[in-house]
Amino acid sequence: MNQATIKDTMVRTAEPFIGADGRIWKRVSVQWENLCYAPGQYVMLAGVKCGADWPTPLTIQRATGDRFTVIIHPDCPLYGLKAGDAVAVWGPNGTGVAMASGETAAIITDARGCLPVRPYVEAFGDHLSGVYLVGGGDASTVLRADITEKADDPAELKDRAAVLNADKVLMALPVGLIVKWKQAVPDDLAARTYAFIAAKIACGVGGCKSCFITSGDRSFGFPVCCKGPMLPLTAVDFARDQDSLIHYI
Ligand code: FES
Repeated sequence: MNQATIKDTMVRTAEPFIGADGRIWKRVSVQWENLCYAPGQYVMLAGVKCGADWPTPLTIQRATGDRFTVIIHPDCPLYGLKAGDAVAVWGPNGTGVAMASGETAAIITDARGCLPVRPYVEAFGDHLSGVYLVGGGDASTVLRADITEKADDPAELKDRAAVLNADKVLMALPVGLIVKWKQAVPDDLAARTYAFIAAKIACGVGGCKSCFITSGDRSFGFPVCCKGPMLPLTAVDFARDQDSLIHYI
């Protein structure tokens, strides 16, 4: 199991955030001094006094100084959080994706996946070779980045130099499109591709088995909550696991 730090802390700010779906989400900053995290990690957050006592996994969007920021869906019980509310947090959970000096990464997402990949877009800076949006919509304001190109199908992008030559391709797409990509690209590009895997996260620390996927020859599978949520494409057997995957956290 992961050794997550558990804190009782408080909401510092809560403000509206316009999502790629046009709905009003909530951007919440939570007090936590000097949180050390890697892009792609998440926290489990519960707000007992606002009635959200079951923890929800939320991607860490950024962390600076004395707080970190998450973005909350309007249907999430935590949407009612306001400044000053007490919250319980454990994390950071999961494994981020690190970039070595000189490496580049291309991001391929649809509008629904833009929040899980937003931390990478923010953090990668000069490492970013391109940001590609699949399936329409407008995610540029959420991603706070220019969209390099739009496509109907990710396979259309496999010959783009910024994708083909990237050291890593990170994608947040529905399972069907991830599988199409895997089938369409050469093996070496598939081996450099990571996909956001939306398993059912319940404990976030490897203890409850709700997020285990059965890929490979491991008889008990492995926990997405600890090893992911961005996993190498080669680590996931989508034919076996697609029924246990949901679209996004
Ligand atoms: S969420 Fe409990 S084991 Fe992963």
